[in-house]
Amino acid sequence: MSELTLLHKLARSLMTGQLRAAADPHRPQWHLAPPVGLLNDPVGFVEADDGYHLCYQWNPLACAHGAKFWGHWRSTDLVHWQHEPVALLPSEEYERNGCYSGSAVLHEGRIHLIYTGNVKYDDGSRTAYQCLARQRDDGTFEKLGPVIDLPAGYTGHVRDPKVWRHGDHWYLVLGAQDAQLKGQVLCYRGDDLQHWQLLGELTGSGHNNLGEFGYMWECPDLFSLDGAEVLICCPQGLSPQADRYQNLFQSGYFVGQMDYAQGRLTHGDFTELDLGFEFYAPQTTQTRDGRRLIYGWMGLPDDNEASHPTRDYGWQHQMTCPRELRLIDGHLYQTPARELSALRGAGVRLSGPVAETPVLDGRCAELHLTASGPWKLDLGDAAWLSYSQQTLTLCRRNWRTGEWETRRWHGELRDLRLLLDASSIELFINEGEAVMSARYFPGESVPLRWSGQAELQLEYWPLSPCML
Ligand code: FRU
Repeated sequence: MSELTLLHKLARSLMTGQLRAAADPHRPQWHLAPPVGLLNDPVGFVEADDGYHLCYQWNPLACAHGAKFWGHWRSTDLVHWQHEPVALLPSEEYERNGCYSGSAVLHEGRIHLIYTGNVKYDDGSRTAYQCLARQRDDGTFEKLGPVIDLPAGYTGHVRDPKVWRHGDHWYLVLGAQDAQLKGQVLCYRGDDLQHWQLLGELTGSGHNNLGEFGYMWECPDLFSLDGAEVLICCPQGLSPQADRYQNLFQSGYFVGQMDYAQGRLTHGDFTELDLGFEFYAPQTTQTRDGRRLIYGWMGLPDDNEASHPTRDYGWQHQMTCPRELRLIDGHLYQTPARELSALRGAGVRLSGPVAETPVLDGRCAELHLTASGPWKLDLGDAAWLSYSQQTLTLCRRNWRTGEWETRRWHGELRDLRLLLDASSIELFINEGEAVMSARYFPGESVPLRWSGQAELQLEYWPLSPCML
């Protein structure tokens, strides 16, 4: 479709849909969500001279996956964001079924986007091109076209380029499916952003003693952190095991050492990034003050999507909050970006028997708690949390089936930080040792009611709305 036709459709969708979306009581007050239509992966996350840029996989024309655009936000403080001109529209033949996920780097003072041009054929087959675009002076992007074609020996599922600089070269990783239908990560090296040499498989199914490890790996992201290399990726096709791999698709990481000459990562086991219900396709960037930040999509491509109540208001899905990453003893810790404390209103400090804790408003709030003994916290009648016998349980009412569903973390709970928004919960356990994220759809008020035998120490802040 021509760029002009796409722009007309986009404008009409925004003009007719934005007020309806904004009127939804489940609309996030301080998380990023699309103005209309469906959002999925965070992409093109980078800090430039004019602040942080975060793009997103976006179908502005419907609450459905389809020919994706790149929406584009910018912020100077990671809290307040403004819309920028849409970064990419799927107007060219080589991207006609979507400008799929990718990343951003700064080169010669300009943001460059590297993304996947997705092409589907009538017979059900597909191909993929990795494409480059460069920012113009007015903030829009000029497409420079495909720079990597489909490599031999892989299906059309090759996508989601993440680019970074190491020494005198650019490096790029891609999620891929090989001809035996196994998930892989490919590694490329380039002298510039246009010319790339395939070094080989960085890792994947069958590498590093993984054995069979999924039929497709999406959204790889490789970076150094605290003296090691971390590969984040999303393997599809892992079977559930006890409390692991409970969601349809997984998002997790490996820690290892990179051989840059060979483009190979030697690494240990796979650890999930988030033990909640919705977390997928995250992307990280390095800030100028040296932090590694991550955003995730607080969603999953699965059948729960079709019944999200926000679809009645013409919008769907949101990002997680921005989180800081640290690597301690080979384990990734995630904590909410420190900038988010700017959202806090007047705080309340309480301590005493949990059953005597007053009811607090949980619609949009932050809580820190430490407790001795078992406790339970009801979030209205749409979700609850409890801790007893070394198990933290997060339970929510499934909006499709009406049934309660559960995720668990096992261990000694020292402290818990809870971030609540109109339809989301993020739990940070023991200063980020584990995280659980979930969407939920409560009524318009969310009374927080406590029960149990514990002595509780609690800090509570209402959070102020900051999203349009
Ligand atoms: C992950 C993903 C990516 C793809 C994009 C399409 O959620 O499937 O692999 O590039 O979404 O929107």
